[in-house]
Amino acid sequence: MTTTTTAAVLRDPESPFSFEEVALADLGPTEILVDLVSVGFCHTDVVARGMAAYVLPAILGHEGAGTVAAVGSDVDRVAVGDAVVLSFASCGACDQCLSGTPSYCALFTPLNMSARNLDGTVSATDADGNEIANRWFGQSSFATRAIVDQNSAVRVAPDVDLTKVGPLGCGIQTGAGTVLRAMDLQPGQSIVVFGAGAVGLAAVLGAKLAGAADIVAVDLHQSRLDLALELGATRVVLGSDRRLVEKITDDGPGLDFALDTTGVSSVMEAAIDSVGPGGAVMLVAASEAGLSLHPTQLTGKTISYVLEGAADPQEFIPYLVEKWQAGEFPFDRLIRTYPFDQIDKAEADSHSGDAIKPVLLFS
Ligand SMILES: NC(=O)c1ccc[n+]([C@@H]2O[C@H](COP(=O)([O-])OP(=O)(O)OC[C@H]3O[C@@H](n4cnc5c(N)ncnc54)[C@H](O)[C@@H]3O)[C@@H](O)[C@H]2O)c1
Ligand SMILES: [Zn+2]
Ligand SMILES: [Zn+2]
Repeated sequence: MTTTTTAAVLRDPESPFSFEEVALADLGPTEILVDLVSVGFCHTDVVARGMAAYVLPAILGHEGAGTVAAVGSDVDRVAVGDAVVLSFASCGACDQCLSGTPSYCALFTPLNMSARNLDGTVSATDADGNEIANRWFGQSSFATRAIVDQNSAVRVAPDVDLTKVGPLGCGIQTGAGTVLRAMDLQPGQSIVVFGAGAVGLAAVLGAKLAGAADIVAVDLHQSRLDLALELGATRVVLGSDRRLVEKITDDGPGLDFALDTTGVSSVMEAAIDSVGPGGAVMLVAASEAGLSLHPTQLTGKTISYVLEGAADPQEFIPYLVEKWQAGEFPFDRLIRTYPFDQIDKAEADSHSGDAIKPVLLFS
């Protein structure tokens, strides 16, 4: 019997999502079928509208949480009935995967951003039998059911609230992971976070969890800065401030770390100028904008573009769940929920800034 899913299909970069019954292929040996309970809306889903490389029509969505409905013949990590958080796909076998940084997997791009399975096949077809791209970040979870490889699924305890934890699979992991894993921020160190959206505020939460002494948040919206202060920022500065870098550094030699989530050239450059010698700058935004620097601006500093917080979801997501349940990582304060059929409203609210982290609920 053919497995079907009700999916929000993006057919055209300019169009709203179209709700369609989509047929899914049989499971491959290491694949699982997941009944989705919720899925977060990440800014990178919006970026897909403008990505010529990603072939439409496509099912987007890459912050799913749900339960395992079926497993392929060789699946050994999860079983039917398990609660899972879905994250990006990785091969599990290359040097980066084996050393605990699967977001730098040698096959990251074909596994997460191509329209096809690695063998060239597709796993989803519409009512007319036409192919639909369904490997967006390995999961394509803007749908009631999704096929993912077992490497993308992180098992969590049955009592974990699956209406909340989907965003741990990308946006929250990216912000918190960049601080806790890529930077490995130590107690007493300092950090400035540019952009107080979902990723930036998750970084603020991560910095507080790590015991940072000085956590500076920068955004254009005072309401987001107010929230940053509630979540652990020790100081905030408006991004429009003419003395931005001086205020961040307090006219001192510079902070230990800077994270840019805005992808705006001038802001990324301010991030670089905000750290001192020995400091590290990490960039994460999905942006076409480049950098124009004089080499001396980098004196004694390191700079890196970080994917998915350089975290291993199998280790990091259970860690974040544990800290959340202990009340030390309240990422759910960023969430606003919508029924699945309100996906266009969720996208509009994400775009306008009305919602920091929209989460779609499947009934
Ligand atoms: N590298 C990765 O693995 C990864 C993972 C998830 C998301 N992303 C990307 O990270 C970026 C941030 O995602 P998000 O969900 O937090 O987006 P968001 O839109 O919620 O947050 C961006 C914030 O930056 C602020 N901002 C914009 N221009 C600014 C300026 N000039 N000065 C100060 N603040 C400014 C906005 O007001 C907003 O609050 C996006 O580009 C997204 O695609 C990357
Ligand atoms: Zn790999
Ligand atoms: Zn994402």
